[in-house]
Amino acid sequence: MKPTRIFPIAIFILSCLFTTGIQAQNTIPEVESILKRMTLDEKIGQLNLLTPGGGVATGSVVSKNVEDKIKAGQVGGLFGVTGPDKVRRAQEIALKNSRLKIPLLIGSDIIHGYKTTFPIPLALSCSWDMGLLEKVARIAATEATADGINWNFSPMVDIARDPRWGRIAEGAGEDPFLGSAIARAMVKGYQGDDLSRSSTMLACVKHFALYGAAEAGRDYNRVSMDHVTMFNYYFPPYKAAVDAGVASVMTSFNDVDGIPATGNKWLLTDVLRNRWGFKGLVVSDYTSLNEMIAHGLGDLQQVSALALNAGLDMDMVGEGFLTTLKKSVNEGLVHEEAITQACRLILEAKYKLGLFGDPYRYSDTSRPDKDILTPKHRTAAREIAAHSFVLLKKHNGVLPLKKTAKIALIGPLANNRNNMLGTWAPTGDPQLSVPILDGLKNVAPNAVITYAKGANITDDPVMAKNVNVFGTRVDIDKRSPDIMLKEAIALAQRSDVVVAVVGEASEMTGEAASRTDISIPASQKKLIRALVDTGKPVVLVLMSGRPLTIPEEFDLPISILQVWFPGVEAGNAVADVLFGDYNPSGKLTATWPRNVGQIPIYYAEKNTGRPATGDEFQKFKSNYLDAPNTPLLPFGYGLSYTEFEYSDLVLNKREIGSNESITASVTLKNTGNYDGEEVVQLYLQDVVRSITPPKRELKGFNKVFLKKGESKKVVINLSPEDLKFYNSQLDFVAEPGEFQIYVGTDSNANLSSSFVLK
Ligand code: BGC
Repeated sequence: MKPTRIFPIAIFILSCLFTTGIQAQNTIPEVESILKRMTLDEKIGQLNLLTPGGGVATGSVVSKNVEDKIKAGQVGGLFGVTGPDKVRRAQEIALKNSRLKIPLLIGSDIIHGYKTTFPIPLALSCSWDMGLLEKVARIAATEATADGINWNFSPMVDIARDPRWGRIAEGAGEDPFLGSAIARAMVKGYQGDDLSRSSTMLACVKHFALYGAAEAGRDYNRVSMDHVTMFNYYFPPYKAAVDAGVASVMTSFNDVDGIPATGNKWLLTDVLRNRWGFKGLVVSDYTSLNEMIAHGLGDLQQVSALALNAGLDMDMVGEGFLTTLKKSVNEGLVHEEAITQACRLILEAKYKLGLFGDPYRYSDTSRPDKDILTPKHRTAAREIAAHSFVLLKKHNGVLPLKKTAKIALIGPLANNRNNMLGTWAPTGDPQLSVPILDGLKNVAPNAVITYAKGANITDDPVMAKNVNVFGTRVDIDKRSPDIMLKEAIALAQRSDVVVAVVGEASEMTGEAASRTDISIPASQKKLIRALVDTGKPVVLVLMSGRPLTIPEEFDLPISILQVWFPGVEAGNAVADVLFGDYNPSGKLTATWPRNVGQIPIYYAEKNTGRPATGDEFQKFKSNYLDAPNTPLLPFGYGLSYTEFEYSDLVLNKREIGSNESITASVTLKNTGNYDGEEVVQLYLQDVVRSITPPKRELKGFNKVFLKKGESKKVVINLSPEDLKFYNSQLDFVAEPGEFQIYVGTDSNANLSSSFVLK
């Protein structure tokens, strides 16, 4: 910490240091000396996180009398307050009016960029590029801290195998290995190497735990899962964030083993603190403490005591701690020491940020102009968005488009700003985003581009109403659907090629945005058919925050580029890829099912005792009467304008000991007509072990660039840790025996070899 201003409190702390003698191990003397001066009420006050409202709309409760509570020492932190001047004002209220003058944590949800909005996290994960992920987090931290924020409720690392769940958009998809790598990159990007720098901030890994496994994909629903599955598939990204030094953890809304995460001692104390050694602070999700009443665990006093005793430190918005803990101490339901410990962790977080040295370190009014939405940041957003797109299908060499083509740009998302940022972008401004139409014109000024909307995002008024809670994402046009369709067909007929920009409205995914039908809305399906029927080449630019079911569209003779919600530079990035200035390299990080009946669906499934072989129905095997087991598009899938050929998979050893690494190398050749990048993926199958192994699991990847015609030897290393799994005693072990390796372009990779662990 490099304090730039000395405050009375700091002077007091220094004087205490000389009088209190040696502190207990691992505690921070400055924090301990404040704790000694605090009353029980003041300690409880620090456990209270409030939002005065401004810009946050994630729950029905908004905090009241915030200013008075700060003055009374009843607030440890705020969120929903932005701007260096407002944050300074908030800190001044605490510094000038509260007895102990303890500065506030200032939180926010900066999920995929601050004002420079990047693609949604699910899209970012498809880049498989940890350098880019870290850069996204770094830029987000730079911008957010310039605007006064010192605590970010990100990364969200919930594994999701169910695309009905709307918040699949916010995470890194279905895979624990990739999800862990992304968790590490983002924590590093937000927190940097030194939290006391004014451009770094506390990260908060969320939602601990298992939130992505909500039953039936319905948000906030219960979770039912065995411990072996938790430890092997759902916990790793949270643990990776903890190992990377994440400063805080947010609990989830769901229950785990029948106890809501916010009050779950096994989760928060046994696993998180005792097993993983987490030393930071645990915050609840928005009113999740109070929601334990609805879960059926007691009244506010009971659930607050339960949560504190379980290991929760800070109560977001609900004020259950504030209003009941003192009574619970008096009645012997909680010990004051538990409150002191929670308070200690919150003060330590403030200390790490350097707030005791300078409470106004995030209140520099000259920073927003210098640091927010800079041209450099926008350039990064454009580049990163292009890396997140996934080419799902190519047809007849239509892509990349010629920069002189006559293009009919059609679709409700083709000239639209409101839906470019995607869900959970409360700090971004949709009006600053580049519509696809503008992007095409920017990148190909000599192309002839005509535009028609062609259809509404949906014609269903109920869906439109439900989606429009955060502003008009879906507008139902005054013109009749038939007139819109005719106009689009006429334009298509006069063009060389049709680019149809279709999909979901951004708020059709995200929090409280689960769907039971994840196909393209009917209005747009009809439009796509009609455009294909014109006989013109069609390129579908597909937007969504989740895998969609698109079996019919996939069968059409068209090309499909999945662009998710690309962020503030949407149009420019889409144009860069459509015209071939960037050759798409994204790979899916969540499986695309053929229909919702296949869900949950994920590549790392187990064999069962009666595995079906092939896609034909087999009686008394594990399969369906009416659909194959295989998905429409597997995990790891994504095409390029060029072609890649894999050969010569070689392992450097045939046998290894338990502490040895092993290296796989493969020759990759770019055999097509364009330079391009490929994500080489390595999957591992533990052939025989003490608990049923998945058919294969991702254990390594390497993104490489190859010039047209070039060959490269690509090397992927497997460490002893990569062979380990949690057994039925939940010990992390590797068991001797044969391991099969698969290397290739997606999770169906079939170039294989094997080795033995002695
Ligand atoms: C979300 C969290 C978020 C919090 C604060 C909740 O509704 O689940 O992810 O951090 O609101 O905005």
